[in-house]
Amino acid sequence: MKRVLFSILFLFFLVGCEKKEIPLGNLPGAQIYHGITRSDVRCFRCHGPIGEGASAPALVKEGKTIDSALFVKTVLDGRNRMPPFASVLSEVEIKSIIDWLEKVNQKTDGNG
Ligand code: HEC
Repeated sequence: MKRVLFSILFLFFLVGCEKKEIPLGNLPGAQIYHGITRSDVRCFRCHGPIGEGASAPALVKEGKTIDSALFVKTVLDGRNRMPPFASVLSEVEIKSIIDWLEKVNQKTDGNG
């Protein structure tokens, strides 16, 4: 009986996790940006779930980020209210974020 109860609770837990689904969430950049693989990195809290901008500016315009070298530099060093991530992220990881941001915004920009 207890086991059945636990299974039901576990199912609710899984359904709960499913709800905040990340678009193209299997890509490494999505998982870094949303703090799944790196709990100390949570870009989405300032830049919005797909980089559309929130308290911080949008990261993608017309499906493109700023120049990738400048993007990487800004994330590593930080700028004004943007914190630096040099101690937690590598250049490769930041480039995977760029890759995901451009893919996910290409997908939602057009009309199918
Ligand atoms: C605490 C809030 C916060 C977090 C977390 C944050 N940012 Fe930012 N970000 C900002 C702000 C504010 C700016 C604007 C900086 C300025 O005034 O120049 C910014 C600017 C940027 C820029 C430059 C945009 C441009 O057009 O020049 C990039 C790129 C960027 N952030 C990427 C990221 C990424 C990637 C992450 C996660 C690794 C991240 N940010 C996490 C607040 C944040």
